[in-house]
Amino acid sequence: MPKNFKRTTVTAALPYANGPLHIGHIAGAYLPSDIYVRYLRLKGEDVIYVCGSDEHGVAIQIGARKEGVPPKQFVDKYHELMKNTFEAFGISFDIYSRTTHPVHYQTAQEFFTTIHQSGIFREEVSEQYYDEQEGLFLADRYIVGTCPVCGYDRAYGDQCEKCGTSLSPKQLINPRSTVSGNPPVLKPTRHWYFPLDEYEDWLREWLLKGHAHDWKTNVYGQCKSWIEQGLQARSITRDMDWGVPVPLPDAKGKVLYVWFDAPIGYISATKELKGSEWEKYWKDPDTRLIHFIGKDNIVFHCIIFPCMLKAEGSYILPDNVPANEFLNLEGDKISTSRNHAVWLHEYLRDFPGRRDELRYVLTSIAPETKDSDFTWKDYQQRVNSELVGILGNFVNRVLVLIAKYFNHVVPALPAIVAEQRIMQLWQNTEEELNRTLAEMVKALEEFRFREAQFQMMNLARAGNKWLADTEPWKRYADDKAVTAFILHQAMRIVATLGFACEPFLPDTAKRIQRQINFLSNANNEAVSFWKNSRLLALQQNIMVPEKADLLFTPVPDEQIETQLERLKKKEKTMDEPNQQTKLKPLKPQISIDDFAKLDIRIGKVISAERVEKSDKLLKLVVDTGIDKRTILSGIARHYSPEELVGRQVTLLANLAPRKMMGIESQGMILTAENPDGTLRLIQSADEISPGATIS
Ligand code: MF3
Ligand code: ZN
Repeated sequence: MPKNFKRTTVTAALPYANGPLHIGHIAGAYLPSDIYVRYLRLKGEDVIYVCGSDEHGVAIQIGARKEGVPPKQFVDKYHELMKNTFEAFGISFDIYSRTTHPVHYQTAQEFFTTIHQSGIFREEVSEQYYDEQEGLFLADRYIVGTCPVCGYDRAYGDQCEKCGTSLSPKQLINPRSTVSGNPPVLKPTRHWYFPLDEYEDWLREWLLKGHAHDWKTNVYGQCKSWIEQGLQARSITRDMDWGVPVPLPDAKGKVLYVWFDAPIGYISATKELKGSEWEKYWKDPDTRLIHFIGKDNIVFHCIIFPCMLKAEGSYILPDNVPANEFLNLEGDKISTSRNHAVWLHEYLRDFPGRRDELRYVLTSIAPETKDSDFTWKDYQQRVNSELVGILGNFVNRVLVLIAKYFNHVVPALPAIVAEQRIMQLWQNTEEELNRTLAEMVKALEEFRFREAQFQMMNLARAGNKWLADTEPWKRYADDKAVTAFILHQAMRIVATLGFACEPFLPDTAKRIQRQINFLSNANNEAVSFWKNSRLLALQQNIMVPEKADLLFTPVPDEQIETQLERLKKKEKTMDEPNQQTKLKPLKPQISIDDFAKLDIRIGKVISAERVEKSDKLLKLVVDTGIDKRTILSGIARHYSPEELVGRQVTLLANLAPRKMMGIESQGMILTAENPDGTLRLIQSADEISPGATIS
């Protein structure tokens, strides 16, 4: 039953402040939410659009450790970068806050306290793994060990990636901390648990019954399978010093779990934005709450956060959570560690003035119902044939024709046009335009932005067809009135496009509106974009520019080649033989701290084999002292597998894992290159036991 809401609160997932933004983030949550919000604003609705940086959690603490800086300094850097990038890309948040803001600490603590005072949390002491060297309790995924099911020796504390079994850290054989490499010890610790199990019946009612039809099937399906597997209490506190402190007297050294505090960040941001008015955006049942997220966040936004809101008691619940699936890149998963990504700040630098082009392509291929693939060739193709060829071309033709035949002034609608054929054509066109607009609006309301944008483009297609069918350039000489009629109507289509494209292509909308000097007060229903353009008939002397600007220009081949090259180069195996014979120049100076980041160790080759279809790579299994791992090395032309087994090698042990030829390489074997291009292993003159570090 659609309800009439008074206002809408739109949230977009708070991105972790631990790296720059890439197109996957944008396609997943930020572009769809921006389109939706722009559409609501166009309708004149009361809407707020909130986001910010997610700055807590183990991943951030460890990221900061790796960079050797305090967590605050680490998140400051990425918060700034993300905030600026969002702004540069034109994502129109009403506020972009951050979870280290004092208002957030207070809000999250109050939220916790209210639930705590109702006696809802359970308190329990349990034994958890602790890394004595690093002085920290280890989150499940920072513990590795041997899988009790399949014997894989790099299973994580929450799951074995090899056999898929979900695990708890205590099941691992020979557990090791991935932070220090040492075996962790068990230590008792007390935590607060949120009893999700007690909310099962309520979730069945509210979610499984209540949202069976209005939530996307990918979202609903994931929730259903979660609920049906049975829910368990979840600990919502952690032993850490980075995070929102647990607001209880006997909780020193404990902070709120990042997934407890982060969604409350939406509320904190609203407080910052709206001051004393904030409550109506979160507590008035006439407010509609919509969360835009990627699919990895579904459970948190559809199950855990709603249960928290319900437990707190005074909040509204999400009305919809239109989560997207994942975007791939050139046929492969986007990977930040392998640098297989299109970074947004780099796109903005390499394609200045082309924000709408990226928006257009990402919406055209939005992973709304299943994963989708971004390729540079497809980007070029869509820009050149659709934006340039259809939309840009239509608007430009109309402006040029009006400039040419009517001295830059939009002709008034003639009183009568006698020609039946033209009148009939127009009637068909108008019907088509109305249908298209209605479908566009329906799709926008239902979060089907791909379809909505396609319908928007259909307005331009209909416009092009109108010109092709009526051929005004052939009519001017014999019938000025007919020409005026054709171009006046064409101009109405341009004006309509100037508003209809705004949610998708805001820069283009501005360019169109500026060129046609037609600023409507479009604060009425979106369905009346078209009615709105009737105002044109009333406004006199609308001037079009003497020389119309092109809305879009084609993306040249070279630019696409450059991007493809760049992707390839970034992913190129680092230890490929270098053919050049000259000595390389000295690299820029580094500090001892830079050097200390490298974990270089002695290892021993246990086995070696060729990699299928590669004449460069060998697949080695290396005993690093702390584990036995697979490392790919580009030395196949320089060593035979046989001569390597049993040999000592030097390896970079903390290089992020990367996949080559379908195999994950967990480190890099160090080699030296002779001037003739041959590679030799770096090896100590003396036998050293595996695991010894180099400093
Ligand atoms: N930081 C999380 C991620 O990037 C998303 C947090 S959404 C919030 O996956 F609701 F918790 F804020
Ligand atoms: Zn296993």
